[in-house]
Amino acid sequence: MGLFLDSAKIEEVRKAVELGFVSGVTTNPTIMAKVKDAPKGVIESICRLSPGPVFYQVTAKTTEEREREGREFSDICREKVVLKIPATTENFALMAKLSRDIPCAATAVYSGAQTLVACEAGARFVIPYVNRATRLLGDGCKLVAEMAKVVELSGTSVEILAASIKSAEEATQAVLAGAHHLTLPLDILLSLGNHPLSDAAIEEFGRAGQ
Ligand code: E4P
Repeated sequence: MGLFLDSAKIEEVRKAVELGFVSGVTTNPTIMAKVKDAPKGVIESICRLSPGPVFYQVTAKTTEEREREGREFSDICREKVVLKIPATTENFALMAKLSRDIPCAATAVYSGAQTLVACEAGARFVIPYVNRATRLLGDGCKLVAEMAKVVELSGTSVEILAASIKSAEEATQAVLAGAHHLTLPLDILLSLGNHPLSDAAIEEFGRAGQ
């Protein structure tokens, strides 16, 4: 099980890593566009801070260019960089090639069928967008549960990294549905360890001690 930060902002990465219980960092093109520095420099900086995997999503137009882009970003830090490759049949063929020597994650996964192909294409991770799936399909955690069953039956060791998580409750439900890891924006990540009833108990203990 691992908690990941979903951000490319180096100050947010620093803050999350300093918590001591964050396993790594995920990025995507939208998140990357929010920082002014070039993506390679951003990934290099994150790899210097992150204790574990750093996910980079390929964006090039053609398969050949995506392969070249993936290998270039993997070379930034081969021990940490995981390539996020959006789930399409064409991209799964690319993943089957890249995954021979580079850890890959199938991202924007919305079905058990895509999960099955990801397992066969050598994915290390599959990434469902839970909140988006709930809004678009009706139940994001049902998707996670289906994916978990497909992974189990595939006989592979693919890990589900649940993304698009917008609350502590959604995080809990995604894990209960079978997610191995979660990636979260910093505010949600920081909220996981808090609860109003815990605060009330602390205040009560404080009053008792006065
Ligand atoms: C993870 O990195 C995903 O790309 C991200 O969570 C997408 O989902 P969201 O934009 O709904 O958060």
